[in-house]
Amino acid sequence: MVHLGPKKPQARKGSMADVPKELMQQIENFEKIFTVPTETLQAVTKHFISELEKGLSKKGGNIPMIPGWVMDFPTGKESGDFLAIDLGGTNLRVVLVKLGGDRTFDTTQSKYRLPDAMRTTQNPDELWEFIADSLKAFIDEQFPQGISEPIPLGFTFSFPASQNKINEGILQRWTKGFDIPNIENHDVVPMLQKQITKRNIPIEVVALINDTTGTLVASYYTDPETKMGVIFGTGVNGAYYDVCSDIEKLQGKLSDDIPPSAPMAINCEYGSFDNEHVVLPRTKYDITIDEESPRPGQQTFEKMSSGYYLGEILRLALMDMQKQGFIFKNQDLSKFDKPFVMDTSYPARIEEDPFENLEDTDDLFQNEFGINTTVQERKLIRRLSELIGARAARLSVCGIAAICQKRGYKTGHIAADGSVYNRYPGFKEKAANALKDIYGWTQTSLDDYPIKIVPAEDGSGAGAAVIAALAQKRIAEGKSVGIIGA
Ligand code: GLC
Repeated sequence: MVHLGPKKPQARKGSMADVPKELMQQIENFEKIFTVPTETLQAVTKHFISELEKGLSKKGGNIPMIPGWVMDFPTGKESGDFLAIDLGGTNLRVVLVKLGGDRTFDTTQSKYRLPDAMRTTQNPDELWEFIADSLKAFIDEQFPQGISEPIPLGFTFSFPASQNKINEGILQRWTKGFDIPNIENHDVVPMLQKQITKRNIPIEVVALINDTTGTLVASYYTDPETKMGVIFGTGVNGAYYDVCSDIEKLQGKLSDDIPPSAPMAINCEYGSFDNEHVVLPRTKYDITIDEESPRPGQQTFEKMSSGYYLGEILRLALMDMQKQGFIFKNQDLSKFDKPFVMDTSYPARIEEDPFENLEDTDDLFQNEFGINTTVQERKLIRRLSELIGARAARLSVCGIAAICQKRGYKTGHIAADGSVYNRYPGFKEKAANALKDIYGWTQTSLDDYPIKIVPAEDGSGAGAAVIAALAQKRIAEGKSVGIIGA
């Protein structure tokens, strides 16, 4: 996503001294609406905790809090060969995982670019055919002699999918701009299995996994200090282990072999936090994003903080400035005036522009959109990108603070993954410091913060494999992997 090319001269961060007053006023207004003060973060976290609790209650709430039927902590001794598929971000990933049984693993993987049109295809079969064809291509390459023993597969499906058992995922609703008919309210596992079987590949889908749960388990496999798996990527979400007796909505649904103290991995789906619009400081751009999305009213938290939306928030704010006559005067906007034409790599590249005059940003607008910008306009664009990126980083850690406070964790590691976490400039530091602000820690180095956000292990590869291994072990021992009767 972020590519700077050859090393260029280093410049100081631009001064705003030469920005005319009317533009400066706009910048100040943006600073006001996009800055999230510590008190707001604390209020958001407080409300978050009560919403998480509601999600676990029988009545339910906005946050789905989906039990993932991973009821064991990995020991690190899980071993064997597994396949994993990951659908939910920009690419489809297919991975062969060899779990070493000694807290180590090896992976071999291929990525298949998900055609943009696939997100909204009208024919659901196309999606499953694409996945099964990619899987077949991968198998043919990795196992030219064919497969003798059936291989278990963990399917990372990174959407809110209800699970009555480990190998089931009933899609509640699409997120992240996906909108394919006839899949919502259906179990996706048989849809994928049917296409696999049709291609005569001896593979069985043994577990359906959310990317956050995979991240949690993969990181726990190598580091037992792990308290959560979180994704800051195309979407934003987190998973953690709760205790069965604290999950009210499972009361009466668990078979006798599961003790009340058993752990249960929960995929929070907290991208849907505050769909009732109680605490989040939404701007008019957030409202437009929501109204024009395929699922208005859903994923309020995610729409303000995840990678699928950051570039579009920037574009909407710039279009607004243009319409009011502040910027891009007498420019042809036909290439720019299109929803989602700026993905999140744009604000990322703008924030990384090393030149005083923001020359990279100049090139970007000229080459990609045919827009000539003045240096003052580019300063506004840069400041806006910083504000939007910082707001995302600050808001998105409220989910972490809420889970840690709910579970009483004072220390631990939060395993993080996703394109925004890994590639958005300054995101890691801003996220860590926002957590520090919420807690009021006095340590000065990120490395000393009691709750540390650390780079995760490969959740949708190793994590999916460990979860598949844990499920197979439970089944072999006659233990349940779902609600009674599922
Ligand atoms: C969206 C999905 C969720 C996923 C997250 C990160 O929020 O609904 O399942 O974990 O994106 O990929």
